[in-house]
Amino acid sequence: MKLYCKVVALALCLGTLLLLYLFVGSADDDDEPPLKVAVKGSRSSAPGGDLVAQAHFRAVPAAEPEEEGAAQVSKREKQQQQQQQPRLHKKTGKRSAAKGKFASVRRPKDQKHSTLQLSAPQWMHLAVVACGDRLEETLIMLKSAVLFSYRKLKFHIFAEDSLKSEFEKKLQEWPPSYTKKFEYHVYPIAFSVGNAQEWKKLFKPCAAQRLFLPMILKDVDSLLYVDTDVLFLRPIDDIWSFLRAFNSTQLAAMAPEHEIPKIGWYSRFARHPYYGMTGVNSGVMLMNLTRIRNTQFKNSMIPAGLTWEEMLYPLYQKYKNYITWGDQDLLNIIFYFNPECLYLFPCQWNYRPDHCMYGSNCKGAEEEGISILHGNRGVYHDDKQPTFKALYEVIRDFSFEDNLFQSMYYPLQSKFLDTVHTLCGRIPQVFLKQIERTVKKAYESRVIVNIGANFRL
Ligand SMILES: *[C@@H]1O[C@H](CO)[C@@H](O)[C@H](O)[C@H]1NC(C)=O
Ligand SMILES: *[C@@H]1O[C@H](CO)[C@@H](O)[C@H](O)[C@H]1NC(C)=O
Repeated sequence: MKLYCKVVALALCLGTLLLLYLFVGSADDDDEPPLKVAVKGSRSSAPGGDLVAQAHFRAVPAAEPEEEGAAQVSKREKQQQQQQQPRLHKKTGKRSAAKGKFASVRRPKDQKHSTLQLSAPQWMHLAVVACGDRLEETLIMLKSAVLFSYRKLKFHIFAEDSLKSEFEKKLQEWPPSYTKKFEYHVYPIAFSVGNAQEWKKLFKPCAAQRLFLPMILKDVDSLLYVDTDVLFLRPIDDIWSFLRAFNSTQLAAMAPEHEIPKIGWYSRFARHPYYGMTGVNSGVMLMNLTRIRNTQFKNSMIPAGLTWEEMLYPLYQKYKNYITWGDQDLLNIIFYFNPECLYLFPCQWNYRPDHCMYGSNCKGAEEEGISILHGNRGVYHDDKQPTFKALYEVIRDFSFEDNLFQSMYYPLQSKFLDTVHTLCGRIPQVFLKQIERTVKKAYESRVIVNIGANFRL
């Protein structure tokens, strides 16, 4: 009799699980089959809902930049958690069993998350300076940021007065599921030291603005600055994690201007000091503003150190007849004298036409794909580099609520078929590898967040 009861109970249990499985499956009809596996795998993390899912997905990509100590530690911690999991989690035992039955692939996803990850909803700050006709380009850049990132973002948009209302109008048109992921502020162009007109002329309109961010954004600890012609092909959370990898003297991170000194611009033409062998490119610049504000910088003007703010104008006065690329040149001069302050990240975090138009020379991108694309030289808007343009166009044309595979990744693949005759188009895998991963993860996390909400008990 007792045995009979057990059998009935077991059958009931299985039946319930089967029903749940069917319910979850049908709640989600328009999703592609492979992802059902992911959905089931993550079900045991459902208590806690979308936060858990997000925390989880945030943790995965953060562990990827191989160079990083911090990330590796967290990866190790994750693995340890994972191993401990079955014993720790009595409640999920049943579900895990069900998962074993219904899911063909077991994914290493359903672990408890450290309270650290959950209780640190740290904002990520993104700054951009948009002048002239850069409105659309800037919006596409911001779109790529918001599409793929996990943690919340604060956008600091520096723009000419005429663009302010345009920005506000466009950003408010985005769907609420995305607008809730960020806050933004549009600032006027302003220079805190020296002659404003002179600074404005220094490079293309307004670019020198970035040099003043430490003084203007006094309450911001750290910031990612990007040019308007940048596209994020993976979550900003990932580049943000480089901040934790800084040693005690580093306060900014940039990628080299070129990989090969023989064909680099600075190494051939510069008439001023510059960082390292090839100089650095300032189109993607990660900054710990707190440190920049607190550091005394070595310089070529006086033997004593100067603060960032004190240094800028005299430095500009001293070198203005020798610099070509404006504020980027000033940054190169600053880090020439203060190399211990710079963290150099690899070229896949600031990938430009230079990395493929003379043949592929960015090893990191060949290995793991492009993380951040930087379409300088106006390549999104002409036909010189169709691979860059293709990426710009698919992100521009993606409507937020669509399926990322069908409406972004597959169109991208087919556009790339038309670019094989170009030097950059010959290496489509470099362009596709990372964004494919990103799309997959973003897609999965969306599904899981939805399911998490349905499944909350
Ligand atoms: C930036 O540097 C300050 C001072 O060293 C430090 O307290 C802060 O945690 C750093 N920010 C990040 C995001 O690492
Ligand atoms: C931090 O790293 C930079 C670049 O590798 C190096 O020059 C500097 O000496 C390091 N600082 C410390 C305190 O180790």
